[in-house]
Amino acid sequence: MDKKTPKENNLTWYDGYLTREDRERLHGHKGAVIWFTGLSASGKSTIARHLEKLLYDQGCSTYVFDGDNVRHGLCADLGFSVEDRKENIRRIAEMTNLYVDAGILAITAFISPYRKDRDRIRELVGKERYLEIYVECPVDVCAARDEKGLYAKAREGKIAHFTGISAPYEPPEHPDLVLRSDQEDALTAAGRVYEVMKARRIVLM
Ligand code: ADX
Repeated sequence: MDKKTPKENNLTWYDGYLTREDRERLHGHKGAVIWFTGLSASGKSTIARHLEKLLYDQGCSTYVFDGDNVRHGLCADLGFSVEDRKENIRRIAEMTNLYVDAGILAITAFISPYRKDRDRIRELVGKERYLEIYVECPVDVCAARDEKGLYAKAREGKIAHFTGISAPYEPPEHPDLVLRSDQEDALTAAGRVYEVMKARRIVLM
């Protein structure tokens, strides 16, 4: 891999004629990253999809990045070691940062189990435009609702480094919101995220 910095590679950043603020004005809201984190089958993707629909109905420009989907293409070369997960999250962070520059609401659903990796996203995007949402759910509830049967396979030792079974999950220390997906339904949870987005002036209505 080429370890040179962009400058050493003679690269310069070109600004367009429009700024992020111009694009945000057009969309009628800020560009931001709404980052869901939590165990596999905790409900991240379901809540993310409900949130996208709520925002769409208000005329917002959105896109959902989902772990399983992204690993079909952009991150198809990555597995689940600490290093590969770090690279997975790094690529998504860079991608969503471009969406923020485009003035779009990027909603993500990745386990993103390591605090350090998540902290890097906040640094990259900036705390004004980053919301960390912890989808908390006991591992046994996740395992019971897991349609893919991955927890059962992981418990039998058939899947290595499985988060919550044979690989760690580091819960956020200061999330912007905690959702208990075993205690509230996904639509209610999405509505609570929307309220935080309003309170933070990411969306205006
Ligand atoms: S992350 O840790 O790098 O953020 P990501 O969200 O992209 O993970 O992918 C998680 C999905 O991959 C899970 O929902 C599950 O379907 C699948 N998966 C396959 N192997 C593993 C594993 N060892 N640990 C966790 N998830 C796995």
